[in-house]
Amino acid sequence: MKRILIEEITKYIGEKVKICGWVDSRRDHGKIIFIDLRDVSGLAQIVFAPNQRAEIYKVAQKLRTEWVIEVTGRVDRRPKGMENPKITTGKVEIGAENLTIFSEAKTLPFETSDERKEVSEEIRLKYRYLDLRRKKMKENLTWRYKVIDFMRNFLKNRGFIEIETPILTKSTPEGARDFIVPSRLQPGKFYALPQSPQQYKQLLMVAGFEKYFQIARCFRDEDPRADRQAEFTQLDIEMAFVEQDDILSLTEELYSELVKELFPQKTITQKPFPRISFEEAMERYKTDKPDLRRDKSNPDELAFGFVVNFPMFEWRKEEGRWDAVHHPFTRPNFENLGGQARPLSENIKEMKKNPDKILAFQYDFILNGFEIGGGSLRTYKPEILEAVFEVMGHKKEDIQKKFGHLLKAFEYGAPPHGGIAPGIDRFMAILMQEPNIREVIAFPKTGDNRDLMMEAPSEVDEKQLKELRIGITKN
Ligand code: AMO
Repeated sequence: MKRILIEEITKYIGEKVKICGWVDSRRDHGKIIFIDLRDVSGLAQIVFAPNQRAEIYKVAQKLRTEWVIEVTGRVDRRPKGMENPKITTGKVEIGAENLTIFSEAKTLPFETSDERKEVSEEIRLKYRYLDLRRKKMKENLTWRYKVIDFMRNFLKNRGFIEIETPILTKSTPEGARDFIVPSRLQPGKFYALPQSPQQYKQLLMVAGFEKYFQIARCFRDEDPRADRQAEFTQLDIEMAFVEQDDILSLTEELYSELVKELFPQKTITQKPFPRISFEEAMERYKTDKPDLRRDKSNPDELAFGFVVNFPMFEWRKEEGRWDAVHHPFTRPNFENLGGQARPLSENIKEMKKNPDKILAFQYDFILNGFEIGGGSLRTYKPEILEAVFEVMGHKKEDIQKKFGHLLKAFEYGAPPHGGIAPGIDRFMAILMQEPNIREVIAFPKTGDNRDLMMEAPSEVDEKQLKELRIGITKN
């Protein structure tokens, strides 16, 4: 007999079915044992009566919560008054005719019902596989999958293709520290994990793909916060032959349709999504990610918006140098310097002289007071990119060493291009009304970047270190 999902049993009234799952709860009423059995699809009530099948009843007496079992039996309507409207199978129950115990379970370190308040984060993350048994966590991850699936289909239908880019790569500046990986075959040398696929997606534009996307894992060695993890996911997008408006419109269309299709109970505050200049945001709201909701107590309100016209550079006091506000690949907007009509060389000269005067074709995508995405049009002329690096204080030979590959690529026919990368984790946390992005990530890290379940990071064998020619200094 084939196993069916619990959600399907109501279609089999009067028939025999086989179901599998975890014992969610057990109640004994007189001599009768009631088990709520849980599988991925829902809960079903199983009845073991002593007078029917004595040998099965005897086994059932041993059952405890979270044991994994298989039950066959007939689906019957529950007696009048015994129905449970709280569960979808509440009108029926299964009279057990056969019972197999697959696994017993120790008492769990915490209850996996959705009241998680009294359980510490440490314990939840150490036993994440148990924490994920919660209904809410199942919902969060299932919705995450549906959102990503929607994004994929939306972009596929508009001629985008998904291309994977390397994880073992070279440092790309996004403003955080790199995670580095030592190379065994090139001793003394290191890969960097990508802070984003930024350079690869631009190189794919040079390669002529024109419309790229990727559900991309990014790595940044920063101190985690409620909306920040060392490892997170972006919907990474890049397009050739586009203006800023093409990218913002596409993003707006994607997110509007997504909400309409998957979360029809939610309302979008304003459409088209408002576009606010950085200057106005700072003046009016004193932040570059204003919360534009009309009613902040309404959990189903989504106030999307774009912040545009960021400055190209900001002064880093600690380092005593200019840095790119977004990243150096962002295209400076020379229009506010007297327009494109001026020769490029003059614009570059002006940029080097007054970096603070230059705006950029850069935009942030905001939602309910969070930055849920960022992007820009890119510089595709090597001489501008070189000048940007110079403003940032890089020496000429340094630029060649770090970014020579990109500058070179731009010498072989680079199309104008631009893109955006909305973060998946922050968007999901807002949709699921979770206070921390950990709640929408299957296996997140702690506040000090540890995986408590796997116990990572961890020490490695002396032999491994030797092979990598790495010595650890202890103090
Ligand atoms: P940026 O650095 O602005 O842009 O990142 C884009 C979006 O990624 C999300 N994000 C994070 N989410 C969780 N944890 C983190 N540590 C974290 N860091 C960033 C945010 C953010 O808005 N390559 C460029 C994009 C581009 O120019 O196309 C980039 O990565 O939601």
